[in-house]
Amino acid sequence: MGLEGRLPWEGNRAAEYKADVARFFEMTKGHVLAAGPKTIGSVPEFARADRELLVLRSSMVPERTLQGFPGRVVFIGGGPPIWDAYARFVSRWDITRLPYDGPADRWFDPNWLIQPERAHDVTA
Ligand SMILES: NC(=O)c1ccc[n+]([C@@H]2O[C@H](COP(=O)([O-])OP(=O)(O)OC[C@H]3O[C@@H](n4cnc5c(N)ncnc54)[C@H](OP(=O)(O)O)[C@@H]3O)[C@@H](O)[C@H]2O)c1
Repeated sequence: MGLEGRLPWEGNRAAEYKADVARFFEMTKGHVLAAGPKTIGSVPEFARADRELLVLRSSMVPERTLQGFPGRVVFIGGGPPIWDAYARFVSRWDITRLPYDGPADRWFDPNWLIQPERAHDVTA
């Protein structure tokens, strides 16, 4: 899922990778994309104008942060420490399988999908 601060398959021009990135930016257009500093830092210039980017810091309280966006769709974009803290607020996951089986230093933890406490209506 991540390698040396980038997507492990970054630079691969195969159709499925290009389609995945294009779909991500299309889906999040007009909405809030909240993610850690490295992940927000990797958002390309072209995608910065038509969505609201929010850098999440560990000093921020997740409930209070999400309550700042009433009625908005907030995408939680990772990396892993972010999903550790915010998974319990996620009402819908969008996970793409890609044909990559090489090195990585960040992984998806399936435990994020099994949250005992569901608290996803904080922005309602
Ligand atoms: N495949 C994908 O969909 C995907 C998505 C996202 C990222 N990635 C990959 O993952 C890597 C980047 O992720 P990363 O985790 O290294 O860096 P990151 O995106 O900067 O996220 C981690 C940082 O978020 C901050 N943070 C904010 N709220 C937090 C909280 N409640 N608890 C803990 N930390 C919190 C911490 O920084 P402070 O303590 O300084 O605030 C932490 O170091 C890259 O390789 C990237 O390509 C992949």
